[in-house]
Amino acid sequence: MPEQISEIKAFSQVTDARWYPRYHLAPPFGWCNDPNGMCFYKGQYHFFYQHYPYAPAWGPMHWGHAVSDDLAYWKHLPIALKPDQPYETGGGCFSGSAIEKDGKLYLMYTGHLQATPEEAEAVGFPHIEFQCLAHSEDGVHFEKSEKNPVIEDADVMDKDVSIHDIRDPKVWVHNGKYYAVLGSRTPDMAHGQIILFESKDLVKSWRFKAISARSDGTLGGMWECPNFAEIDGQDVLIFSPMDLPTDGGIFCHDKAAGVLIGKLNYRSGLFTHGDFQFLDRGFDFYAPQVMETPDGRSVIIGWLDMWNVDMHETKDGWAGQMTIPRELHVKDGKIFSTPVKELEKLRKWKPIILENVVIDEATTFDGVAGEAYELVLTIDAAKSKKFSIALRASELEQTVLTYNSNGTFKFDRTKSGEPINFQSEREIQLEPQDKLKLHIFIDRSSVEVFINDGAEVISARIYPKRTSQKVIFVPEDETLSIDSLEYYKLDFGLPHPHIKDTIPTKDDLPPILQGAI
Ligand code: FRU
Repeated sequence: MPEQISEIKAFSQVTDARWYPRYHLAPPFGWCNDPNGMCFYKGQYHFFYQHYPYAPAWGPMHWGHAVSDDLAYWKHLPIALKPDQPYETGGGCFSGSAIEKDGKLYLMYTGHLQATPEEAEAVGFPHIEFQCLAHSEDGVHFEKSEKNPVIEDADVMDKDVSIHDIRDPKVWVHNGKYYAVLGSRTPDMAHGQIILFESKDLVKSWRFKAISARSDGTLGGMWECPNFAEIDGQDVLIFSPMDLPTDGGIFCHDKAAGVLIGKLNYRSGLFTHGDFQFLDRGFDFYAPQVMETPDGRSVIIGWLDMWNVDMHETKDGWAGQMTIPRELHVKDGKIFSTPVKELEKLRKWKPIILENVVIDEATTFDGVAGEAYELVLTIDAAKSKKFSIALRASELEQTVLTYNSNGTFKFDRTKSGEPINFQSEREIQLEPQDKLKLHIFIDRSSVEVFINDGAEVISARIYPKRTSQKVIFVPEDETLSIDSLEYYKLDFGLPHPHIKDTIPTKDDLPPILQGAI
């Protein structure tokens, strides 16, 4: 039994598993947002996440924790960080990353301090953010550093950096030195930017190096959750810009997640790069974090949700889930994401494989249905002018993917189930190709569609009835020609939640958190 169950009785608990994922990471109770501290330490993958355990809502941030031997099967561990220090009195322990040093696992995170009314008036802002460290000998129990905060407001005071929004450190080591990128904005809040710090020792002192990259005015007023990785010989800055313009340009929400590909000059700290590229073109994808696997792959997991968008699972006592782990590659200057191969371990049942099927009317295939499965399709696009695939379908509900031979690909969740207070249709333009390859993951309340070997990905949360389980293939113009179809029902990759019949109320919260939500 995890320690936390006996520790606090008022954790929010799952009351219905209709939308609770079978193989995607999700909190065992309460709320989650950003992935944090992804790493491989002492033979296991560690995954932390922004977590509020007492209600299915954002509240003072804790770090939830899960581990896996293989990126497919996960186990929950006790909460790793709780907001219990003076420098965390506001939003708690915000996002950050992990790194191993001398056998210890270090977490570098942001302490979110609520300013007193006097301070708030003096600085014109209600909060200040500091960078902090915690460490562990066993990867389970963490101790916060006595030197916290290791990066504070004085370190950036005269640097054209807002002291209020400077967060989400991602730390790495290069040629024996430690580096951390931080999400930030200019003091006038007009431009998002990434700042770079360096340290010789990780634990004692950090030095401001440079503002590595900044929005040119088109990429928002704040950049969150920066990550830096070397992928296929390229330097890749992964980040989540916010305050984006949504008036008809490329952005549909005022937040997005993507990459800049280029070169980091370690001497100057400056990052030269090309244009912004999306990591996911869907409705729900934010704050991804990257880690390097022992065999050198760059793997990301993102939050499969979006701020200020309905999460109907809050009715069931939990909120938020992660994407599947995705491997990143750069080819000809373009980012690609594909499901990690380890997920094949979840294919526990005999697959259904069909080849060379041509249909001229709406068709279902025996056994190709369900609420947690993987579908791998190669379609002869030259012989299938327009077609759609209805997922999680029933008489009343369906989530529809539509392809048109001019290369448009549409994701429509208008009739997916419970309505969502945000866009329900998204259309993207693909490079037209003779074969269209789709790799689809369905998991109770999520859909992830990888298109043409990861050239594009579209992810979304949906809230269908449990009984909406059909997959219907519909030729919209003469025939649909399927070269191959592979269907795999997928196993439970994380423990099924303990179902409770009532959701705790605010009064169940420990006194310290009363009024926090
Ligand atoms: C991104 C974010 C981070 C912050 C965290 C707080 O989703 O706003 O910048 O650290 O969430 O939960």
